Amino acid sequence: MIPLLSKEANIYISEDLKEDIGKLISTFPKDKIFVLTDEGSHKHCLPKIFPVAGISEDNVLVIPQGDKNKNIETLQKVWHFLSHSGADRKSLLINLGGGMPCDLGGFAASTFKRGIQFINVPTTLLAQVDASIGGKTGVNFEGFKNEIGVFNQASAVLIDTSFFDTLDTPNIVSGYAEMIKHALIYSKEAWDKLTDFDIYSFEKEELKSLVANSIMIKNHFVQNDPTEQFLRKALNFGHTFGHAFESFAMHEGKPVLHGYAVAYGMICELYLSHLRLGFKMADVIEISNMLKRIFGIMPITSDDYEELLRLMTHDKKNEDNRINFTLLEDIGEMQVNINASESEVIAAFEFYRDLCENC
Ligand SMILES: NC(=O)c1ccc[n+]([C@@H]2O[C@H](COP(=O)([O-])OP(=O)(O)OC[C@H]3O[C@@H](n4cnc5c(N)ncnc54)[C@H](O)[C@@H]3O)[C@@H](O)[C@H]2O)c1
Ligand SMILES: [Zn+2]
Repeated sequence: MIPLLSKEANIYISEDLKEDIGKLISTFPKDKIFVLTDEGSHKHCLPKIFPVAGISEDNVLVIPQGDKNKNIETLQKVWHFLSHSGADRKSLLINLGGGMPCDLGGFAASTFKRGIQFINVPTTLLAQVDASIGGKTGVNFEGFKNEIGVFNQASAVLIDTSFFDTLDTPNIVSGYAEMIKHALIYSKEAWDKLTDFDIYSFEKEELKSLVANSIMIKNHFVQNDPTEQFLRKALNFGHTFGHAFESFAMHEGKPVLHGYAVAYGMICELYLSHLRLGFKMADVIEISNMLKRIFGIMPITSDDYEELLRLMTHDKKNEDNRINFTLLEDIGEMQVNINASESEVIAAFEFYRDLCENC
């Protein structure tokens, strides 16, 4: 088990899952240990860590999979399970799975008996480079993403890219969107490394090294601004539009994976970056075409603008009813708290749709 970054960051790269999970939990003062996992991770990932000394199979809770289940009802099941299984304030919860169980489990742990410790063992690419790190926990509510939640850091995060062996291509590709985002907000050097990489055909070692890089970038923004007062807002690049696309697709009954929605959001926000901060149009076109090649395009019409705008206005990152964006002046040079007018937002939708028409 190798600490990635400083030991204080508590992010570890595992070389041998069974051994490392045992070593990690032995460092925690705890009485009972619980595991929260969803159906897919239970099937594919739990066998990779089980059996673990000190964890009884009776203390494993399997919740239904998918973001649609990241809700209050599932959260209640977790509280109920912990409460009826004798969990107390010294218990430890291990969240095993993608961003869904990590987000929900983190929130359940943060609120149960005013907070118990939790460890994330992320099993999707998206969860390893993003969701499991940085302490954002929560659930969706009344159709809005992550409406209810708290900031609370996991006590440790254990990373093992061998979990990807069973992960389907759409989920690999979805996680890659956050890696692209990290590179774009961080540096030209990080970006150049990704442009040589093909997410549809890669060597495992190559991905492993890029994952470590991506985690370091995420951690850089988190450690410098854990509760998102300023710098951490960089990580929202692509997400103001992206969350609207994601909610919109969910309401339409045609859900898209989070990373795909973020990729569509990045296309719109790159164009907005051009309008507001002079990001070079040639780069907007080149990166947008690359995103289109990887993620395809979710079709929208001009009739959808009103609903998308309504969803964007609700985004919790807004302040004083203005839509707030993180935009780029150049690759690696971002600015937070940039407002845009409704007509600029619509121009970004039009740019996105033009790209779609050339599909
Ligand atoms: N907290 C944050 O900072 C943050 C950041 C980004 C995204 N998120 C949240 O993360 C969630 C999305 O996470 P996700 O993309 O990991 O999706 P997910 O957790 O829903 O997992 C996707 C699917 O893959 C299955 N799965 C997980 N690991 C597997 C494996 N190794 N092999 C086979 N199947 C496996 C799961 O059962 C599930 O069906 C969203 O709810 C999003 O809002 C949170
Ligand atoms: Zn995201």
